Amino acid sequence: MSVGGPSGWPALLFLLLAMVLSFFCSAKSIDDERDELLKREAMVRLGGQLVLKKEEEDVNGKLMALKRAEIMEAMKTQKFPPSMHFFQAKKLIEKSEVFHVLKKMPKGAALHLHDFGILDMDWLVKNVTYRPYCHMCITPRGTLRFKFALPISPAPKKEDCSKWILLENYRKELQNVTEFDNGLLKTFTLVTENPEVTYADQDDIWTKFETIFFTISGLVHYAPVFRDYIIRGLEEFYLDNVIYLELRAMLHPVYELNGKTHDKEWCVKTYKEVADQFAKDHPEFIGLKIIYSDHRSKDASFIKKSVRTAMALRNRFPKTVAGFDLVGREDTGHTLYDYKDALLIPSLEYVNLPYFLHAGETDWKGTSIDNNLLDALIMNSTRIGHGFALNKHPAIMEDLRKKDIPIEVCPISNQVLKLVSDLRNHPAVSLMAIGQPMVISSDDPGFFGAKGLTYDFYEGFMGLGGMDADLRTLKQLAFNSIKYSAMMPAEKEAAMKTWEKIWDKFIVDQARK
Ligand SMILES: *[C@@H]1O[C@H](CO)[C@@H](O)[C@H](O)[C@H]1NC(C)=O
Ligand SMILES: *[C@@H]1O[C@H](CO)[C@@H](O)[C@H](O)[C@H]1NC(C)=O
Ligand SMILES: *[C@@H]1O[C@H](CO)[C@@H](O)[C@H](O)[C@H]1NC(C)=O
Ligand SMILES: [Zn+2]
Repeated sequence: MSVGGPSGWPALLFLLLAMVLSFFCSAKSIDDERDELLKREAMVRLGGQLVLKKEEEDVNGKLMALKRAEIMEAMKTQKFPPSMHFFQAKKLIEKSEVFHVLKKMPKGAALHLHDFGILDMDWLVKNVTYRPYCHMCITPRGTLRFKFALPISPAPKKEDCSKWILLENYRKELQNVTEFDNGLLKTFTLVTENPEVTYADQDDIWTKFETIFFTISGLVHYAPVFRDYIIRGLEEFYLDNVIYLELRAMLHPVYELNGKTHDKEWCVKTYKEVADQFAKDHPEFIGLKIIYSDHRSKDASFIKKSVRTAMALRNRFPKTVAGFDLVGREDTGHTLYDYKDALLIPSLEYVNLPYFLHAGETDWKGTSIDNNLLDALIMNSTRIGHGFALNKHPAIMEDLRKKDIPIEVCPISNQVLKLVSDLRNHPAVSLMAIGQPMVISSDDPGFFGAKGLTYDFYEGFMGLGGMDADLRTLKQLAFNSIKYSAMMPAEKEAAMKTWEKIWDKFIVDQARK
């Protein structure tokens, strides 16, 4: 019986109303919850806090429409460039409209590059090996060596190499020079049609990788080529809308035709002169800095000397030499901990030598190699080269965030060197999602058949960022590249102004389309 409440027909109506209301309310509350979660994630992701201007919003809308279309298409065809090996994805990437927008986008700076990996290798073949007095020989291991010298002088030690062959004469005797040149190009890069077959494992690809440095060494350390290489390198990045570079450089001796050699100071001076001239000729270009680097295969006693060399070079060229790093494969090299006495020298002597240490470029979790990340942090590394293993180290991740120390993510390098195959599974996917400080760079684009920075930005934007990354992410990455550079405060401020100017121009151009 009713106890004074509504009865009969009105009661039923009330019940229905309550049901309908509760249905909508709970439906609404699920949507609210989803919205709230999405908003929270949007706020923490890389660039999530940036507020775009009206015109930027328009450009973002267009860019995201292109991106959505490409991803939808890839879901249909199951051909998504970031999930494919770069050697096989490259042609597809070049057809992407997103890629073409990224190419035009002012990307700021490229902070993780190696001296002789930045340039399209085609130039070494087509230009450098065609210069007068270029000789070639073949080592017992079957690798090539090059040297510029007046005809009679070069005499390699017998055990080192076959007799020197003057390329000019050699080419004259060839039936098919194109074939020979294509073969040279193949020895200068890692690119092959079937990388999974050509390179069975990480050892395989690293062997070839290190061999290339050895092979091209005699070409790029010839003084006139050394100079031209820098100019061409700067040009390649400038054309790719990058305005500033930081190069890890080993500063090996550079030689002249008569055999005279130049030391590290000469190399730094040449880098500086060439970059200054380039900046004069290209008003929006800022310049470059050198991170002096030695190889992590060397004994600790050698590295002590290298640290002292780095201190001296930085003292002599404070504006050009940014600091010190150790390069080469981490898995087979010394750990940073092995080098701790060397790396502590500057701080014990109250000398400021910033570090830019490669660390965590490994798949071997929990090993002494993996612990390079610990030591990079403890040594106050200004940035971390790669930091590929960072997501496995929550404490280091947290400290790097607190100290605002970025990792330098090089997606194509990591894939080609077989740390990860599908870039949607790259650890930086989750690091980007939580807004870990990072920049994107290209390591050795010349070795990978890439160019400049855009291919890596594409992989980062499409593969690492997925459907979430938008113009905010891209703007943050470009912004970060200047913020985390080794430029001095005044330089940085000027660079930021220059970048903002060309960014605004890019937005106006894109908005008009
Ligand atoms: C190589 O390039 C330089 C300019 O960078 C040019 O002066 C020279 O003639 C070229 N040499 C050859 C052999 O193509
Ligand atoms: C020379 O070799 C290239 C590449 O292998 C080939 O495309 C070309 O047809 C050859 N030319 C001649 C004249 O045999
Ligand atoms: C790292 O920075 C901390 C805090 O500034 C300092 O105490 C420490 O000595 C530095 N370590 C090295 C190796 O420079
Ligand atoms: Zn590197």
